[in-house]
Amino acid sequence: MSSIEIRPLSNTDGTQKMLVDLLIGTVAAGGSVSFMHPLAPEIAAAFWSKSLQAAARGERVVLPAWNREALVGTVTLLLDCPPNQPHRAEIAKLMTRLDYRGKGIATRLMEEAEAVAVEKGRTLLVLDTAKEEGASGLYEKLGFALAGEIPDYALKPHGGLTGTLIYWKRIGSA
Ligand SMILES: CC(C)(COP(=O)(O)OP(=O)(O)OC[C@H]1O[C@@H](n2cnc3c(N)ncnc32)[C@H](O)[C@@H]1OP(=O)(O)O)[C@@H](O)C(=O)NCCC(=O)NCCS
Repeated sequence: MSSIEIRPLSNTDGTQKMLVDLLIGTVAAGGSVSFMHPLAPEIAAAFWSKSLQAAARGERVVLPAWNREALVGTVTLLLDCPPNQPHRAEIAKLMTRLDYRGKGIATRLMEEAEAVAVEKGRTLLVLDTAKEEGASGLYEKLGFALAGEIPDYALKPHGGLTGTLIYWKRIGSA
C-alpha cells in the first residue's frame, strides 16, 4: 500500500491516543498482545506511557505505520537485553488496525524493525506468538525459524488457554 509510511514516533497526546485505540481494538478482535478483553483505556494508556518512556531512554524502539496522520499499525523492538546478550533484540506488540489488515503493513513494520536492529548492531531477533490466532504464518514468511512450543502459556483475550510459539532469526551479517 503506497500511502503507508513508517515514520518515527511523535510523542504527543494525539499519538498516544491512537496507540491506545489501536491496542484496545486489537485485543477486542482477539489479538494476543498480553492483555484481556475488555481492555480499559487507562490500562492501555499506562502501558503506552511506560513503553514510550522506555523508548525515550533508548531501551526500545516503537515504530508506527502512518496513513497520513492516522496511526494504522505498530511494532516494538526491545533492545534492553541482559549484559550477556548484547547482540540480541526482541520483537513485540506487532499490530495492524483492523481496517488496514492484509495490505502488507505488518510486513513493512517487521522489515523496518529488522533494519533498525541491524543498525544497532544486533544479530539475533527473537519473538513469541500465540499458537491460536497468532501470526506464525507471517513470521515464517519473513524467515523466522520455529524454536518450539510452550503449551497453555497464556489466556486468549476472550478467555481459554493457548500455547505460545517461540521464533528466532539471524539478521545482518550473522
Ligand atoms: C498479525 C497482524 C499484525 C498482521 O498484520 P497485517 O498488516 O494484516 O499483515 P500483512 O498484510 O503484512 O500480512 C503479510 C502476510 O502474512 C499473512 N498473515 C497476516 N496475519 C497472519 C496471521 N495471523 N496468521 C498467518 N498469516 C498471517 C498474510 O496473509 C500475508 O500473506 P500474503 O503476503 O501471502 O498475503 C494483524 O493481523 C494483527 O494485528 N493481529 C492481531 C495482533 C497480533 O496477533 N499480533 C502478533 C502478536 S505476536
